Amino acid sequence: MKLLDLDSIKSGMYLARDILSAEGKVLLARGTKLTKAYLKRLKDFNYTHLYVYDNYDDKELEIIEPVSEKTRIQAINVVRESLTKAFTWQDLNIQQVNRLAGIIVDEICEKPDVIFNMMEIKAHDDYTFSHSVNICIISTIMGKFLGLPYTRLKKLAVGALLHDLGKIYIEKKILSKDSNLTPEETRRVHQHPRLGFDRLRIYPDLSILSAHVAYQHHEREDGSGYPRGLCSEEIHPFAKIVAVADSYDAMVSKRPYRKPVFNHIAIAELKANSPTKYDLKVTTALTWAVAPYPIGSVVLLANKEKAVVTNTKRKKTMVQIIDGKNKGEFIEITKDTEVQIADRLA
Ligand SMILES: [Fe+2]
Repeated sequence: MKLLDLDSIKSGMYLARDILSAEGKVLLARGTKLTKAYLKRLKDFNYTHLYVYDNYDDKELEIIEPVSEKTRIQAINVVRESLTKAFTWQDLNIQQVNRLAGIIVDEICEKPDVIFNMMEIKAHDDYTFSHSVNICIISTIMGKFLGLPYTRLKKLAVGALLHDLGKIYIEKKILSKDSNLTPEETRRVHQHPRLGFDRLRIYPDLSILSAHVAYQHHEREDGSGYPRGLCSEEIHPFAKIVAVADSYDAMVSKRPYRKPVFNHIAIAELKANSPTKYDLKVTTALTWAVAPYPIGSVVLLANKEKAVVTNTKRKKTMVQIIDGKNKGEFIEITKDTEVQIADRLA
């Protein structure tokens, strides 16, 4: 299985994952043979990449995701609805947010070995919605690693889902600006944690800890963050987790003002900034939670063969050689195997 951009997919290839509608219904099932008409339609729906198989027989290579696609879509809708309601000063449906966060935590807790893997395959109308759900999933897996009990994981997940709620009050033209912000624009952006906190803290059904995630997710260990410049122990552990997940997902995502970096480079950079900016225990949790070479990545092995990542488990990467003398072979790479990944190519 590989991840290809839509223009590189040929008709006759097979779809490797279900494609769901915004309501969570299957639009195109895994195993469907792709045709030109399907590919055109998917392009119209803003799909940029797809997971595909060359041969129908490859479809046994099942991948397990931390959270089902259906739950992910539901969560994106809940975040979208919450932000829209916040913008128009309507009451938020906190029960619905709590319920979805509970489902996410349940699904993650049911799968002890699962890691965050998938790359974005669709250009969403608003980055904030899918980004918030990714951060929720990554933060929950990290929280599990750090030993948080179930009830606290749920509060963390709610905080992660709504951490950027305050951004809805910041002008879109500032958030999507592709050049440096003026001091005044920076001041506006720095208000979003406080705006989110003020909006969330009024709900008795929402834990104040979840609201503090919104308030503190841009604080940094050395006091260089915003809005209050809090230092290490002044920052709540939940906010430290979401800070790392947020920075990681932002680094690996395409943004108007910069290109994405590869996952393993983002992990290394966050580790290099610990403990100065990020809590060391938390960046260690990140290395446990996310795949450095996600499924579909094309990598260069130390023996100069090219391979595509077909599956990942914690501390284990499965690849298929696509160029080299062992072409077609599947191998498993751990830190102890002779063959190692030297670089990522795509
Ligand atoms: Fe933020």
